[in-house]
Amino acid sequence: MSSTTVITNIASLVTNDPSLGDGSPLGLIQDAAVVIDGDRVAWTGESSKAPATDNRVDAGGRAVIPGFVDSHSHLVFAGDRTQEFNARMSGRAYSAGGIRTTVAATRAASDEELERNLTRYLREALRQGTTTFETKSGYGLTVEDEARALRIAASHTDEVTYLGAHIVSPDYADDPAGYVALVTGEMLDACAPYARWVDVFCEKGAFDGDQARAILTAGKAKGLHPRVHANQLSYGPGVQLAVELDAASADHCTHLTDADVDALASGDTVATLLPGAEFSTRAEWPNARRLIDAGVTVALSTDCNPGSSFTSSVPFCIALAVRDMRMTPDEAVWSATAGGARALRRDDVGRIAPGAYADLTLLDAPSHVHLAYRPGVPLVTGVWRRGVREI
Ligand code: NIG
Ligand code: FE
Repeated sequence: MSSTTVITNIASLVTNDPSLGDGSPLGLIQDAAVVIDGDRVAWTGESSKAPATDNRVDAGGRAVIPGFVDSHSHLVFAGDRTQEFNARMSGRAYSAGGIRTTVAATRAASDEELERNLTRYLREALRQGTTTFETKSGYGLTVEDEARALRIAASHTDEVTYLGAHIVSPDYADDPAGYVALVTGEMLDACAPYARWVDVFCEKGAFDGDQARAILTAGKAKGLHPRVHANQLSYGPGVQLAVELDAASADHCTHLTDADVDALASGDTVATLLPGAEFSTRAEWPNARRLIDAGVTVALSTDCNPGSSFTSSVPFCIALAVRDMRMTPDEAVWSATAGGARALRRDDVGRIAPGAYADLTLLDAPSHVHLAYRPGVPLVTGVWRRGVREI
């Protein structure tokens, strides 16, 4: 029999269940309690009505929110790109080509080094409240290097994405069609057993719409579900292709036409916004307001990678989204929790309601609004993952 714990004296609880609390999308409950039974949430409600449990934790009048669901990261890599960042902050533009630097370092690294790096970034993310994360291959670009990246990722998360189509491998610089054949053939066969998702960087300098369609369709035929790096650096076919193929998410969405926004509003594809990338490349912000006002479901994630967004901090992304992308604090917190869960087509994470995993983040603040109000302050003071207190 599993043991039960009540977390009580929560000043403000974000449940993301509109049927609970104040009826808003955040399902806010004031003066709340949560009961954990094993790895699941068993009960949420007002503190005074909490049932008896084996153990008791006093939240001390602070806020509890669902653990963040970071639905987009690239964490299996070696080396860093400090020089490229430095040059960019002195005026050089960002381009997809920098990925080659990380590919060389990643190929040269041992399995142990890649695993050590991944574990370090995951610990960093956990300390900042992330309890579910997706991560991708894409810095190997050979059959063996892509498969090992996914094998290493799969020992840490169920949300593993095959991104053999990050850029055309330097080994195929003169034969992009040959590389697409590899990505849709032998590499896919080697990678599919470790992955749930297939992704493509659909962009000038990476893969065009026809190539992206071929790669995502081949992945689908192998049982992988699509998600797409779409419309990051320029306008293009990525977003509409994502909706057409029922991708779980179109990621970046920085350059959108009205037709792109309409397509997103009409389908089940989430728009995942990654403000760390615009911050670190000094690019225009994606227009979150336009998407939300059109009825599009928006997720917020870190895109943690050594090139375009070397942050593992969801709270940082929330602060950027509120200050610079015109999201309200409520919307940003929803997008970083429930929105991330939608982008992974999950309903067992991203909310604090009976039946969901007991993934909870305790803030040293009276409400979730402080995540944007107090930017850069390490407010995460407790993290439960699958019912176990980790921080
Ligand atoms: O999501 N856009 C493509 N991939 C990453 C960048 C990878 C890199 O620069 O190493 C991104 O921003
Ligand atoms: Fe990315």
